[in-house]
Amino acid sequence: MFRSLGSLKIPILVTLASASYVSSFSTFQWPNYPLAYAEKQLYEGVLDILVQNCPPRDNTTIPAQWLRIAYHDMSTHNVDDGTGGLDSSIQYELDRPQNIGQGMFDSLNDFRAFGIIAPFFGMADTIALGAVLAVAGCGGPLIPFSAGRIDATEAGPATVPEPQQDLASHTEAFRRQGFTPTEMISLVACGHTLGGVRQVDFPLVVTDPEDVLQTFDTTINFDNAVVSEYLQNTTQNILVVGPNVTTRSDFRIFSSDGNVTMQSLLSSDTFNRTCVTLIERMLNTVPSGVTLTQSLSEPFDYVVMGDNPSRTGSTCPSTGCTVSSNNIQQVFFSIIGNIQGLSGDRYQFNATINPTTSISKFWFEVNENDGSDPIVVDNGGSGFVVEQDSVFVDNGRSEHLLTPTFEEVTQIVVAVRGDTSSTVSITTFDPVSDATTPPFVPVILTTNLQIDENNPSEGGFTFFTTNISNTANFLNITANVGGTTLSQENVDLSLTSFPFISNSS
Ligand code: HEM
Ligand SMILES: *[C@@H]1O[C@H](CO)[C@@H](O)[C@H](O)[C@H]1NC(C)=O
Ligand SMILES: *[C@@H]1O[C@H](CO)[C@@H](O)[C@H](O)[C@H]1NC(C)=O
Ligand SMILES: *[C@@H]1O[C@H](CO)[C@@H](O)[C@H](O)[C@H]1NC(C)=O
Ligand SMILES: *[C@@H]1O[C@H](CO)[C@@H](O)[C@H](O)[C@H]1NC(C)=O
Ligand SMILES: *[C@@H]1O[C@H](CO)[C@@H](O)[C@H](O)[C@H]1NC(C)=O
Ligand SMILES: *[C@@H]1O[C@H](CO)[C@@H](O)[C@H](O)[C@H]1NC(C)=O
Ligand SMILES: *[C@@H]1O[C@H](CO)[C@@H](O)[C@H](O)[C@H]1NC(C)=O
Ligand SMILES: *[C@@H]1O[C@H](CO)[C@@H](O)[C@H](O)[C@H]1NC(C)=O
Repeated sequence: MFRSLGSLKIPILVTLASASYVSSFSTFQWPNYPLAYAEKQLYEGVLDILVQNCPPRDNTTIPAQWLRIAYHDMSTHNVDDGTGGLDSSIQYELDRPQNIGQGMFDSLNDFRAFGIIAPFFGMADTIALGAVLAVAGCGGPLIPFSAGRIDATEAGPATVPEPQQDLASHTEAFRRQGFTPTEMISLVACGHTLGGVRQVDFPLVVTDPEDVLQTFDTTINFDNAVVSEYLQNTTQNILVVGPNVTTRSDFRIFSSDGNVTMQSLLSSDTFNRTCVTLIERMLNTVPSGVTLTQSLSEPFDYVVMGDNPSRTGSTCPSTGCTVSSNNIQQVFFSIIGNIQGLSGDRYQFNATINPTTSISKFWFEVNENDGSDPIVVDNGGSGFVVEQDSVFVDNGRSEHLLTPTFEEVTQIVVAVRGDTSSTVSITTFDPVSDATTPPFVPVILTTNLQIDENNPSEGGFTFFTTNISNTANFLNITANVGGTTLSQENVDLSLTSFPFISNSS
């Protein structure tokens, strides 16, 4: 995302991410906010720090909790009428016995606290991303990731399978969710390779009060030990060999086809491929009418990341900007990028725009200086078009502040090419709600800005200001300038680094 301005300078951040095995130059038609944001969260997001090396929590592991919540959320899907699916309705379903467990609350709290939920990347997308990271964090295969899910605003039907139900009920439950009897066997095995059954949650299943967690297999990792131990008759899976025969649901499911499917999953290659396919399908099971983005299994080679104009910076000559080495930053990839062996650099450019002419579009050229032809990256020929450059967040004038009551706020300054008769409002998106229990829903606020007394008009621009939550991550601007409405959407505040002013008056 990139927007320009008059008079001022623009940072353009470019990620050049290329892996040795990626031979094609993939880029996407810009702008595409959901896809760009999904790619950024998958490859450079911060959520992975909670699942790297499959860490413990609540007597099980965090990744086990993240995979289970994804399945339970998706379980409301009904193929017959297209309702339900992975839609974060789980936020409204935690009082049900089938959704018992500290892991449900803790997972949702993780997803809220990291502040990655965005206008086009809700709790449901975050739950799906969490499942992808969970599997990878425990050494499992990479599951292609799509975004675009829509968050529900109420509970769905109570259709999560329970261990005391019979095989016919489970077969019907999985059919309703879109899976065949064979796929049911595999998907349960893929899920029950992580974590286990907690005594506090299912005392009628884990009857020994000393037994805090009965793991499904003897390895913490995402692997097919759950399968091999079952077939070797050495399993400790309490849903297979537990003292309460009624709740041996995994035994009934795993043996439902004479162990044929379980035998096939003894090959770890088949286990991997089957789990990738079925977990991806599970995560992409959404209510009909919801369209997901294309699936991501490798990064785009070029991503234009800059968006907001800045008031300061160096000047490009009329021939264009040239990157010098001190403006190249190494990209730190998430666990997904690290597993894929990626490396990448981010190049930052400042461009000076004449205030009276401004720019309508930009493009760039990459010269590896290795004898190969330079690569022109021009958004498929159309260039990166700048829709309007009359209304934008002024990075250089905006700042973080501590209020007299020691509250951290962001003082947003919006530059408007127009006079003081203009009116400006912003709608902010704050993913971190104050709620202490789910549902955790973002706070969306519309505020009218006032003329900024500290920044007098300059170069044809008038400055408007307001204070917003410092955890807000996106905002939209609407301005009325001389009777014309101008807007700037999806300003990504996480790409900016406003100065922090600690002693404001
Ligand atoms: C008939 C179907 C299923 C039944 C009856 C079932 C039942 C259970 C039960 C009783 C637990 C223990 C939860 C706790 O102690 O809080 C559990 C844990 C788990 N289930 Fe399932 N499950 C089913 C299918 C699945 C599927 C399809 C997946 C994912 C693909 C899955 C993933 C998990 C995971 C990862 C855990 C471990 C959670 C943890 O350790 O915190 N389950 N399941
Ligand atoms: C973990 O197990 C211990 C011992 O049974 C228990 O006291 C504790 O409450 C459990 N933790 C959670 C989060 O359930
Ligand atoms: C597996 O163990 C159970 C319980 O010990 C036993 O009844 C069953 O015959 C064993 N099956 C095989 C194939 O060894
Ligand atoms: C076995 O589990 C079922 C279903 O949860 C429960 O109704 C029954 O009381 C349990 N039996 C024993 C002996 O605990
Ligand atoms: C399937 O395998 C389990 C575990 O080895 C065994 O107990 C069961 O008898 C087998 N079922 C069939 C139908 O072979
Ligand atoms: C399955 O996937 C894991 C994780 O990517 C990998 O370590 C393992 O080698 C794979 N197994 C096979 C047989 O491909
Ligand atoms: C752009 O301008 C900023 C602010 O003056 C400066 O810190 C930065 O180094 C400049 N970047 C480039 C690529 O010249
Ligand atoms: C923003 O907060 C600062 C510090 O409390 C205050 O001085 C300033 O007037 C506030 N700005 C607006 C527009 O409310
Ligand atoms: C900004 O506008 C876009 C497009 O209408 C919308 O999808 C998004 O939710 C809006 N963002 C905010 C913070 O209101």
